Amino acid sequence: MTRGTIEFHDLHPTPADLAAEVLAGLRRRPRSIPPKFFYDAEGSRLFDAITQTPEYYPTRTELAILHAQAAEIAARVGTGSLLVEPGGGSCSKVRILLQGLRPCAYVPMDIAREHLWVAAEQVAAEFPWLEVHAACTDFTRLMEVPTTAPEGPRVAFFPGSSIGNFDPPGAVDFLAAVAGLVGPGGFLLIGVDLKKDRARLNAAYNDAAGVTAAFNRNLLARINRELGADFDLAAWRHLAFYNEDLGRIEMHLVSERAQTVRLDGETFDFTAGETLHTENSYKYTVEELQQLAAEAGFQPEAVWTDSEGLFSVHLLRAIEGDR
Ligand code: AVI
Repeated sequence: MTRGTIEFHDLHPTPADLAAEVLAGLRRRPRSIPPKFFYDAEGSRLFDAITQTPEYYPTRTELAILHAQAAEIAARVGTGSLLVEPGGGSCSKVRILLQGLRPCAYVPMDIAREHLWVAAEQVAAEFPWLEVHAACTDFTRLMEVPTTAPEGPRVAFFPGSSIGNFDPPGAVDFLAAVAGLVGPGGFLLIGVDLKKDRARLNAAYNDAAGVTAAFNRNLLARINRELGADFDLAAWRHLAFYNEDLGRIEMHLVSERAQTVRLDGETFDFTAGETLHTENSYKYTVEELQQLAAEAGFQPEAVWTDSEGLFSVHLLRAIEGDR
């Protein structure tokens, strides 16, 4: 493949995948729906809007760290690598790294197909020397580099503290899969939100403009649109709070009254006040994250934080040889 071109690989989840996981989540107690389903076109747009709210500090803090450390990161990682970004829907943060890293190709992977296509095309247009292979896939289940992508030492980029959306055992499994993807000696550059005072965390997930609430409720709108369910959006309230014992933000939708929801010929009764758990966002200390990474086969190379200690960016290296 010549440089400056873009190739799409489509493994987009089908409506049947969405239906099966939503039905399973509504049947279990307490009820929950996986957060990956937030990201239809509207959900991706709302998430981008969240990152612009004054309360949601992670994005701008991570961007500042990446800008400040881009040269140092490039010096440590080197050029000519195959740069893979699981969940790289907007392809925005990677732009900071591309000039310095000069990868042989860039492989963004995301579940939100249209959002990914548009973003990947913009990157390809902005960096004409770069080969881009955009892979629409549920990276929580399948993380394979398209076979047509060129080879080079592999570097994975996983910004945004998306690692926090797994529970800790799930995070270790995911990191182990990334270690397998990059291979021994390969790198992972990962952004991780840090533990901090409760008020700051609670505000970040309860922005005054209500964007996070709209993002949360869009999950129900999506299920109505794509699966023909009959959630009454006005009867569900956004709830997000820091659960200090578990070190995580929990996001729920609260049923404002007793109600019945129909989906795919099944009915689901909700009591007033019952919640539908939609997301966890775990927060870690630097040491906790390094411990998880070690369990997955990574050793720390470097870690950078901002002056307020809000957010961390870790450069990890997959351990070579037997573990
Ligand atoms: C994508 N993920 C890391 C975000 C987070 O902070 O857990 C999603 C999000 N949910 C509400 N606000 C942002």
